[in-house]
Amino acid sequence: MQRKRIRKAGFVSVIAMAFAFTAGAQAADVKKVHEKGLKPYEIVDGISIPKPLTDKPGDPKRGAKIVVKRKKGNCLACHKIDQLSDFPFHGNIGPELTDVASHMKDGEMRLRLVNPKVVNEDTIMPAFYRTEGLHRVMKKFQGKPVLTEQEIEDVIAFLKTLKASQ
Ligand code: HEC
Repeated sequence: MQRKRIRKAGFVSVIAMAFAFTAGAQAADVKKVHEKGLKPYEIVDGISIPKPLTDKPGDPKRGAKIVVKRKKGNCLACHKIDQLSDFPFHGNIGPELTDVASHMKDGEMRLRLVNPKVVNEDTIMPAFYRTEGLHRVMKKFQGKPVLTEQEIEDVIAFLKTLKASQ
């Protein structure tokens, strides 16, 4: 009789632990976003989109090309990247990205690219994966993001290679 009660108490505490665990997991603030014409994604704790937007891994070589191209990323207009010193005119409006992989996770890079306003409402960095909430968009670009989801993943794959050599 007593043994049975002990077993029951054990069962209850396992349930309680499982409950506490799920409650803990839910404590992360997950915001689902689904804009017109784009794949849905999740922002975690307002700082990160941990899951890639595509199943196909990003290609760092293609990413570098997108970063340089004026009509694609045009990132050098605002960011200095020593690894791309073959290309002229690196701006200094944004922080230097030469060592960005040392202090940023993929998910944080992804949110910066998709919609940097989530991190800093007043940023002048463009949102590269949005169709809503944008201003001054030329008609032919309306309804389309600046970069496709695969291009976003390619740029992240390139950013992940950026570590200043010691
Ligand atoms: C019009 C200027 C501008 C352009 C173009 C731009 N950025 Fe930025 N970016 C900024 C500014 C300014 C910041 C500083 C953070 C803020 O404003 O919130 C920033 C921040 C970042 C950060 C965070 C860096 C850190 O150390 O915290 C990354 C990563 C980044 N940009 C990547 C890119 C990439 C990749 C591109 C091209 C696809 C790009 N940016 C295009 C202005 C720009």
